Amino acid sequence: MKKVKLAWIFIQAFLFVGLSGCLKDPMTEKAFTPQQVKLYNKGRGVYNSVCITCHNIKPKLPGAIGPDVYGSSLELLSLKVLKGTYPKGYKPKRPSQNMPVFEDQKDDIEALHFYLNN
Ligand code: HEC
Repeated sequence: MKKVKLAWIFIQAFLFVGLSGCLKDPMTEKAFTPQQVKLYNKGRGVYNSVCITCHNIKPKLPGAIGPDVYGSSLELLSLKVLKGTYPKGYKPKRPSQNMPVFEDQKDDIEALHFYLNN
C-alpha cells in the first residue's frame, strides 16, 4: 500500500513539473507580430555589430566602456547615437563624452529602440 502511495506522489510530481513547463504565463509571454519580430532582429543585429564594442551584449548590464542601455527612449537613442547629445533635462548615466556619433545609423534607430525595450 505504501509503495503505491509513493508511486502516486512521484507521478503527480512528474505531471506537475511537466505541465508547468508547457503552460506559458500569458502575462509574461510576448506575442510579436511578424513585423515586430523583424524589427527586433534588425535592432539586435545592429546592436550586436555596432554597439557591443563598448556596451554589454546584454543591454541590461553595463559594458566594458559604455553603461547599460536597456530601456533607452527613442529620443535618447536618436540624440545620443546620431548627434552625441541628450534629451533636455536628461541626466546621463556617465558624465563622459567618449561615445562616437554614428550618423549612418539613422535608419536603425527605430529597430534599436524596439530591441532595447523588449
Ligand atoms: C566606442 C564605444 C561605444 C560605442 C561603439 C557605442 N557606445 Fe554608447 N556609450 C559609450 C559611452 C562611453 C557612453 C557614456 C557616455 C559617453 O562617454 O559618451 C555611452 C552612452 C550611451 C547612451 C546613453 C546612456 C544613458 O542613459 O546615459 C546610449 C543610449 C548609448 N550609449 C547607446 C549606444 C548605441 C545604441 C550604440 C550602437 C549604435 C552605442 N551606444 C555605441 C560608448 C560607446
